[in-house]
Amino acid sequence: MNGREQWSSKLGFILAAAGSAIGLGAIWKFPYIAGQNGGGAFFLIFILFTLVLGLPLLLAEFLIGRSTQANAIDSYKKIAPRSKWHWIGIIGMISCFILLSFYSVIGGWIIAYLFKVVTGGLNHLSSNQYSAIFGSTISDPIISIIVQLLFILITIIVVSKGVQNGIELASKFMMPALFILFIILVIRAVTLDGAMEGVLFLLQPDFSKVTSKTILEAMGQSFFTLSVGVSVMVTYSSYLPKNQSLPRSAFSIVGMNLAIVLLAGLAIFPAVFALGLEPGAGPVLLFNVLPTVFSQLPFGMVFFGAFLILFLFAALTSAFSMLEIIVSVVSKNNAQRKKWSWIIGLAIFAFGVPSALSFGILGDVKIFHKTIFDVMDYTVSNILMPLGALLISIFVPLKMKKSALYEEMIKGSKVKKGLFDVWYILIRYVAPILILVVMMNVLGVW
Ligand code: PFF
Repeated sequence: MNGREQWSSKLGFILAAAGSAIGLGAIWKFPYIAGQNGGGAFFLIFILFTLVLGLPLLLAEFLIGRSTQANAIDSYKKIAPRSKWHWIGIIGMISCFILLSFYSVIGGWIIAYLFKVVTGGLNHLSSNQYSAIFGSTISDPIISIIVQLLFILITIIVVSKGVQNGIELASKFMMPALFILFIILVIRAVTLDGAMEGVLFLLQPDFSKVTSKTILEAMGQSFFTLSVGVSVMVTYSSYLPKNQSLPRSAFSIVGMNLAIVLLAGLAIFPAVFALGLEPGAGPVLLFNVLPTVFSQLPFGMVFFGAFLILFLFAALTSAFSMLEIIVSVVSKNNAQRKKWSWIIGLAIFAFGVPSALSFGILGDVKIFHKTIFDVMDYTVSNILMPLGALLISIFVPLKMKKSALYEEMIKGSKVKKGLFDVWYILIRYVAPILILVVMMNVLGVW
């Protein structure tokens, strides 16, 4: 295993894994998907999926990764040699390739906004003016491609230097700061005139809006926000020493993630309703709402700039994990890491250009009534991630001994047998059945 890195501290792993989980999914994607799917009911179903499927799967990936100490392909090969199970890792790598190709588009938008704030282009404008400026920025082909490239370049540089240096150091300060800023934002948003309607939109479930599509989106969203199903968490936990509690790590990542989702919802929806905006506006929702909310705070643009930096950071730590999983498979040793980071990163950029252009000159190109960007997102979130999750939930109980799983789980933790049993039932029975039912339902199989 030519000198695999290990996280330098217990906290390092948690921060990196949490960094992978917390990103655009909770902050940008959750509000807009919830907005398109009726709000409260979606939120509730999302929480249920996170607890019943996301959490057990996260733990399952941790167990695979730490017990094998190998990358996303070799870990499956170690457990099930001479079989096809390592295709779980291949599907994960393909997912991450596509994922980063469109994730970087949104990452680029953050960079673009940051430039505007720094150059003072956003002072004292109305809500409509903010939307107009943003709309013209993301539809500009040159700008959208340049900022996307910048986002990917940062990702490449960090991953090429080795994953831990880049992530561990900064996370320690960035994550807590993001929480604090979000709390300020929520306080401002819920005290706007007419904000209550938005709070109710998020917290009062209206099940009449729920369809099989809503349920699939909620499931996909719960996998997306936790980075499960694509073996990223297998890869990260393979760098982990044995003295760390896996269940505790999983619980804290899920807890932090849900907290950020709730804060994002409480920051966005009250403002959407108070400002008379449209909750179903799609991917642009967050970017249209935020500047107006910030502009209502004293020193608003300073806060907005700070928020964008933290938001960018949250997006980058997720992006690192997507590139890392691929690079850790294809580079045979640390000397090759740099070369492959660049090759793969630039290939992802090239593949992502049409997604970036789908908010402008390629906006009319539709596949199954969706823009190119939406097709990429849908393929990963609602097909590949659930498929990966399904396969993992079949693989773990089938190919790993129950006693070995228990042994691995209690290393570094004081997990009660009862808790292990609950996890085992969830992963062995509940997860595969539930994922299959949700997926088939949408396909119209029954
Ligand atoms: N969890 C990340 C987010 O919510 O932004 C997205 C993500 C990262 C998904 C890494 C999958 C992944 F492998």
